[in-house]
This record gives sequence, C-alpha cells and structure tokens, in this order.
Amino acid sequence: MKRLELDGEKREDIRQAASLLRDGELVAIPTETVYGLAADASNEQALARLFSAKQRPLSHPLIVHIGDIAQLRDWAQDITPIAYELAEQFWPGPLTMILKKSPSAPALVTGGQSTVGIRMPGHPVALEILKEFGGALAAPSANKYGRISPTAVAHVLGQFDNEIAAVVDGGLCPVGIESSIVDLSTAAPRILRPGLLDGELVGFGVAPYGQTDEGDTPRVSGSDSRHYAPAKPASLCSPKELKQTIEQHAQGRIQVWSLTPNRYDLAHVDWVVMPLDPVFYARELYLRLHDFERSENDLLIIEQPPVTSVWKGINNRLQRATARASG
Ligand code: TXA
Ligand code: MG
Repeated sequence: MKRLELDGEKREDIRQAASLLRDGELVAIPTETVYGLAADASNEQALARLFSAKQRPLSHPLIVHIGDIAQLRDWAQDITPIAYELAEQFWPGPLTMILKKSPSAPALVTGGQSTVGIRMPGHPVALEILKEFGGALAAPSANKYGRISPTAVAHVLGQFDNEIAAVVDGGLCPVGIESSIVDLSTAAPRILRPGLLDGELVGFGVAPYGQTDEGDTPRVSGSDSRHYAPAKPASLCSPKELKQTIEQHAQGRIQVWSLTPNRYDLAHVDWVVMPLDPVFYARELYLRLHDFERSENDLLIIEQPPVTSVWKGINNRLQRATARASG
C-alpha cells in the first residue's frame, strides 16, 4: 500500500486517518510538541508494527494519547488527586503522566512495566483524530529510534516510507520539543523528562528533573545519553569558548548556533542567531537540527543557553543531540 498524505484541515481526511487507525494501520499525526506515529493502543498487532517501523526496542514504553479525561480510568488505576489536578490544569497540553497501569493495558504499551504514560495532546488535529477514532492512540515521536524528532511533515516523510499508511499534515508543531513527563506512580512525584512546563509543575510540588535519586527510575527512551541526534557531528560549548572553538575548526564548513549577534565573519561559517526566549528556541530546535543535517555543513557548534530552570528542557535535548555515540 502506498503512503497517503492527508490534510488535517479536511474533515474527510480526518475520517480517513481514523479509519486507517481502526484497521490497525500506522498514521503519523501532528501534536503540539512533535509529530507522533500513532497506532491503536489496544491493538497488539498495530503496536508490534509500530515498534518495527520505528526500529525501537520492545522494552521502551509508549505514551497513550487520549481525547477525554474520562478515558484515564481505562488505562490507569489508583489515580491520585494530584494527577487530576495536573490534568485539569495542563490538558490538553504538553504533559505526560506516569500512573499505575490498569490490568487491561497491553504489555507492549507499557514495556512490561507496572506503569503507563498518558497524555491528552493540545493540537486541534490530534484531538479531532482522537475524537473520530474513539479510543486511545499509542504515539511515540515519528522518527526512527535515536534520530531527530519531527516538527514538520517533511521530517516524517524523510524518515518513513511505505511502512506507514498515512501522514496527516497539521503544519509546524508549535511547542517544538516533547512533553514534560511526570512520574506520579510513587508517593514523591518527579519530572522524568524536562519540557517547557517544568517551572509550573514544580509549583504543584513535583520534584524538578535530575534532583532525586534516579535509582529506580522507570525506563525513558529519551534517557539514552545519545538521542535526538543528527547524523553529523555537533558540539555544545560555553559562550566563553565559542570563539576559540570556531577557530579550532579551520577545515570544512561549520554551522554555529549563537545567542549573541556578534558574528565572526568567516567564509566557512554559517552563522545562525537563535532566539533568546526559550519558548521560541524550543520551536526552532528540531527544525534547525533537520536543516543542519540536510545542509552542506560538516559540523554544528552550539553556544550553550543559560543553565537555568526555564532552559532545562532545551539544554537536555542539546546535550543529547551532541553526546558522542557510545560504542
Ligand atoms: O510530546 C510527546 O510526548 C511526543 C508526542 C508525539 O506526544 N511523544 C513522545 O513519545 O515523545 P516517545 O515515545 O518518543 O517518548 C515517550 C517517552 C519515552 O522516553 C518513554 O520511555 C517514556 O515516554 N515512557 C512511556 N511510558 C513510560 C512509563 N510507563 N514509565 C516511564 N517512562 C515512560
Ligand atoms: Mg522520541
């Protein structure tokens, strides 16, 4: 079957996407964070197909996307008051909650764990597809395992061919980095993956990312040190080291992401001034990484943004994108 390109603004295309999903097919859909590769979360065959298309290890759990808070009880149990408070405050939106799974949640969704990740996405097209579909959709980011997450339809088309049935176009993803993940399955809620909501989550008594003992942290696939990575070398350096780092690379073409407008006017340097506001930086991050990958530049040098809490989600993705491959 040939991969279809559907338009998220057309009612007929939303219906077709939902119908393909009901048939157990894979459909890439826009969410406010990144594009997700969706499959019927209660269909084991569709889930198996999802892991194989993404080339993702079976032990990595998926996020269940729901269109209505009432569906929480189909997937989770022992739902704590704080979970309802967070859902009320942030859904639909870029927040994933880890809760104790309900007995009916398939092991493929949870990676065999006793918990399940759930979110209600904030993108109108995702919500319409969910409503039309009726059930819940498992949707990891629509990229091959370990590669750069997609924030535009072109990124999805570049990574998947006929192993998926359709892609629904919903424009550019407005948030640009993946949802914040909060573990609510224990007595001490904590952030497992930082995003753009972290500051507000901490206001609800959730421990910040990286603060608690991670000894019994459930598996989070984004926690492999190298992830979200471009196929070419990329490195992160402090503002002080920027000039020197550029000077060390006299060979080849370099792209530089700087936060300061002071360019070094060198013929082999492609200078990109990144936004000083983390909300705008996040929106551009993966777009720019995809651009760099397709460009003629051989190396990417990124000036480290401020190491403050509002930049945590961004710094986390930059560290992973620039981590050296192990082994
Ligand atoms: O913004 C997002 O969350 C996007 C969009 C498409 O919704 N999805 C996304 O999915 O980032 P994925 O599969 O690329 O990352 C989901 C993360 C993984 O790191 C996974 O390990 C973690 O969620 N996760 C899912 N269920 C979990 C669980 N029960 N315990 C711990 N981590 C879990
Ligand atoms: Mg991902």
